Amino acid sequence: MRRRRPVRIAPSILSADFGHLARDVAAVEEAGADWIHVDVMDGHFVPNLTIGPGVTAAVRSATSLPVDVHLMIEQPQRWIEAFADAGADWITVHHEACPHLHRVVEQIRDAGARPGVAVNPATPVEVLRDILPDIDLVLVMSVNPGFGGQRFIEGAPDRVRRVRELASRVRSTPLPALQVDGGVAAGSAPAVVAAGADCLVAGSAVYGHPGGAAGGMAALREAVESVPEPGEVRA
Ligand code: DX5
Ligand code: ZN
Repeated sequence: MRRRRPVRIAPSILSADFGHLARDVAAVEEAGADWIHVDVMDGHFVPNLTIGPGVTAAVRSATSLPVDVHLMIEQPQRWIEAFADAGADWITVHHEACPHLHRVVEQIRDAGARPGVAVNPATPVEVLRDILPDIDLVLVMSVNPGFGGQRFIEGAPDRVRRVRELASRVRSTPLPALQVDGGVAAGSAPAVVAAGADCLVAGSAVYGHPGGAAGGMAALREAVESVPEPGEVRA
């Protein structure tokens, strides 16, 4: 049966070769990636430092795909315009980093990008209830953010299911994109898609695949192509 919501794959450039970033972005675009996921870490919200608006702008120049920026930073409100100006199409902030989340979501929209909200594995997904009508994407973390190559946390599919149910109750269609990030690979992807995820972020499973980025993309696509969409949830 044809899915109403196709599964999008967003390779994370965190696992790319930063010395050949444009080449590695082009490789996943050629292999059928839907978005390019950019992991921004500040050494405070998470114990790692990665990239900023400058490298994001370089990614923007290297692809025609939507650029999906995941801000794992404290006080993200200080950086929204810089990432939007760098070419981010989607900007996701963490619930845990935003005491004034609604204001930050509006700021993202005003900056011309589409807003997403991420929740860490230990954050009850129910905190999303009142922000769900205002956002275009929910990101359910399936690892504790900070590093690529970590093990998928098995409770993630159930959390995805609960977000989908909550979203169905608190807003009319269209539902927000439901993204999962961390340890997503051919083995873990079917369960999150069956639970309702329609956007998979994958770093090491794409760039670290023995068949290269094209092999990693193909393995992920094959793993999820026949997974049915969950049935409509009634309010
Ligand atoms: C986690 C990041 C992810 C992650 C993905 O802190 O937000 O995007 O690096 O990498 P893999 O797929 O290797 O877990
Ligand atoms: Zn990410």
